Amino acid sequence: MARSRRPVITLDGPAGSGKTTTAQAVAKRLGFRHLDSGALYRALTFALLKEGVPEQEWRALEAEQLTALNVEVEAEGDVVNIYHDGVLLTSDLRSPEVTSSVSAVAGLPAVRDWLLDVQRSVGAHGNLVADGRDMGTVVFPDADVKIFLVASLEERARRRLLQDHGREPDVAEIQEEARRIDQRDQADRSRSHSPLRRPEHALEVDTTGLPFDDQVSLILRRVKDLTPL
Ligand code: CDP
Repeated sequence: MARSRRPVITLDGPAGSGKTTTAQAVAKRLGFRHLDSGALYRALTFALLKEGVPEQEWRALEAEQLTALNVEVEAEGDVVNIYHDGVLLTSDLRSPEVTSSVSAVAGLPAVRDWLLDVQRSVGAHGNLVADGRDMGTVVFPDADVKIFLVASLEERARRRLLQDHGREPDVAEIQEEARRIDQRDQADRSRSHSPLRRPEHALEVDTTGLPFDDQVSLILRRVKDLTPL
């Protein structure tokens, strides 16, 4: 099969498996656009919480109400920016409140449908590295290169805490974070719409003992093998 000259590369995997940092590094090396799809789900969650929409009303949300939340995605060159009410969203997307509600929002079919077009338009011209839970299965099923990143639960919890607090966590902190991550993984795996799963033909990379640079190199090699780059 002839592969596109402007490839799409997908990275999927469970929470804290390092998808976003890896995708960022791969995109930078290739000069491609990076789509962090989790940030889109986080942005809608942020807007719902900020607007005070009660959680019991989320199930009934329709496209029109989601549009009225005023979340906008602007892609220019390599950069994808997300705004709420015209304000650029950055660290707000990763607050504990957003993190604990995001899987409930991501399980809503109306939300997933609303974001599908947004994601495809960001990737419409290829030269894209997209990371998330359903990039290779649903959003970009024809992607040229598909990667599935995994790591042990403890390692993912450790990395997440190290990233958030900038110091090595203790055992109790790791256990607590592992519990939170596991809950989110289970919600992401068991939902009926676009559940987290390994895409067919995806290369599974276990990063538990793998240095970050080796992980990036391995993916770049795979891109070289499967695309005309
Ligand atoms: O960075 P982390 O792995 O913790 O999560 P994220 O990539 O920011 O995604 C946050 C949440 O959004 C996930 O737990 C999923 O519930 C949801 N998500 C999704 O359902 N589908 C995607 N393609 C990306 C994220």
